[in-house]
Amino acid sequence: MGVNKFVMAGVMGWPVAHSRSPTIHNFWIKQYGLSGAYGFFPVPPDKLEQAIRGMAALGIAGCNVTIPHKVHALQFMDWVHPSAEKIGAINTIVVQPDGSLHGYNNDGYGYIQSLREVQSNWQAHDKPIVVIGAGGAARSILVALMSEGATEIRLLNRTLENARTLEKELGPQVIKAYEWDQRHSLLSDCSLVINTTSQGMEGYPPLDLDLAPLPSDAVVSDIIYTPLETPLLKQARLLGLPTINGLGMLLHQARPAFRSWFGIDPLVTDELRNKLLKH
Ligand code: ATR
Repeated sequence: MGVNKFVMAGVMGWPVAHSRSPTIHNFWIKQYGLSGAYGFFPVPPDKLEQAIRGMAALGIAGCNVTIPHKVHALQFMDWVHPSAEKIGAINTIVVQPDGSLHGYNNDGYGYIQSLREVQSNWQAHDKPIVVIGAGGAARSILVALMSEGATEIRLLNRTLENARTLEKELGPQVIKAYEWDQRHSLLSDCSLVINTTSQGMEGYPPLDLDLAPLPSDAVVSDIIYTPLETPLLKQARLLGLPTINGLGMLLHQARPAFRSWFGIDPLVTDELRNKLLKH
């Protein structure tokens, strides 16, 4: 016990073998001299509650939650952070000393940090921001942009209805849903474009978006990290625009989780990035 206590955490998903989280957290466990392990927890949907409730008895510090459990896991928490409540999904569970369960969603935080890595003086309220997509990833990014003080977010989604739902639920004063056909023309006065859809991922067609109307200093970002340079980011690079890939979001969402479980604020280093790229 004491200094050498064996610490445990993991990622619950179904399937989960593709997750990069074990590579990240096991790297930090080793780097910070902890004795412990971060595992893969393949949990089928009908066993989710049992798996979550079993963590305290097993002495597990907590876990990440990934597809398809992010929404359902929330209902088993004893306390949920207000931003995760707003998003309606969690990606991190922290088991408290008394065994109760706290739920967080650090995805949006991870995204903002990845942005600040590239543009340390980035301000959410500078100019309109364009968000493409209206799924779970879009929800967490929208909530984070709003808490950073965004004043105008143009939300574009293939199915307008899904974008309208997010506009209504998350903040119609700031979020405005537009028709998919308007996506190219809405870029001309924007500071930032974020693709939250799967378009451009390995095995998927590129996102159909013409970036030419963007101002010359606008940032183009994609939350995809396979490939690191999606066709959208390549188009931006060829136009001379700064780009951000999804690797930073993946790495930075992991930091607050590691800190809550193990009491250390870990660093995102080039060594860790390289390790993930070789994964
Ligand atoms: P996640 O929860 O990971 O964000 P999701 O809920 O499946 O994933 O969301 C996928 C997003 O990609 C949605 O916004 C989806 O648009 P629809 O609401 O119209 O389904 C978007 N998407 C999927 N295929 C697309 C395509 N071919 N063109 C444009 N957007 C697409």
